[in-house]
Amino acid sequence: MTAPSAPISPDALKTLVGQAALRYVRAGEIVGVGTGSTVNKFIEALASMKDQIAGAVSCSKASTERLQALGIRVFDANAVEKLAVYIDGADEIDQQGYMVKGGGAALTREKIVAALAEQFVCIADASKLVDSLGAFPLPVEVIPMAAAQITRRFAALGGQAQLRLKDGQPLVTDNGQHILDVRGLRINQPLAFETEVSQWPGVVTVGVFAHQKAQVCLLGTAEGVRTIAY
Ligand code: 5RP
Repeated sequence: MTAPSAPISPDALKTLVGQAALRYVRAGEIVGVGTGSTVNKFIEALASMKDQIAGAVSCSKASTERLQALGIRVFDANAVEKLAVYIDGADEIDQQGYMVKGGGAALTREKIVAALAEQFVCIADASKLVDSLGAFPLPVEVIPMAAAQITRRFAALGGQAQLRLKDGQPLVTDNGQHILDVRGLRINQPLAFETEVSQWPGVVTVGVFAHQKAQVCLLGTAEGVRTIAY
C-alpha cells in the first residue's frame, strides 16, 4: 500500500502557478508584473527568461526591486503603449474573472498597468476562488482628507471601513495615500459597484477589478495547475 502523499503547501502552490505563468510571456515583449507573494514566485521564474524579454512594467517599489535585482529591466508605464500580458495575483477571484485586489496596497498601480494589457493572467492558489466577492475586506485607496466621508458612504451600503495601519500609523501607499479596508460588503454586481465607488470624491482606486478583469486564471490546486479561461 502506498502512503498518502503530503498536502501541497500554499507556498508550493504559488511556485507552481508562478512558473505556469511563463507560458503567457512572449519573447521580445515587455511584461506587466503585479505585486504580492504569488507574483514574487513569478518574478523568480521570469529570471529564466530574462534574456528573451525586453523587460517589465512593475506595479510596486517592491516588485521593481526584485525585478532589478534579477537583472530584468523595468520600464516606466508612460513609456509603454500596450502590453500583451499582465501577470498578477488576487485576494479573491470569482467565476467570471472579477477580482478583489489590494491586499498588498498596490491596487492603484495594478489597475493602471492592467489597463495597458491585452490579457490579464491571474495567478492564485485555490483558496482565492469564490462564488461571490466580498468576504475579503475590500481595499480602497483614498485621499486622506476624504477618509471619513468615504467611511460614511460605505456604512450606508452596510460596510464597515477601517483605516489600514502599519506599525501603529496609517499605512502610506507608494502613491502617498491611505487605504480603507471595508468589511461586510456583498459585491453581487462587481461592474456596477466598481463604477459607482470609483466616482466618489476622494476615492483613488477601489479594489474591485471588474472593468480590468482576468481573462485567464491559473489556479494552484492539490491536483496541479487548473487553467480557467473567462
Ligand atoms: C497586491 C495585490 C495582490 O495581488 C494580492 O494581495 C494577492 O497577494 P498574494 O499573492 O500575496 O496572496 O492585490 O495589492
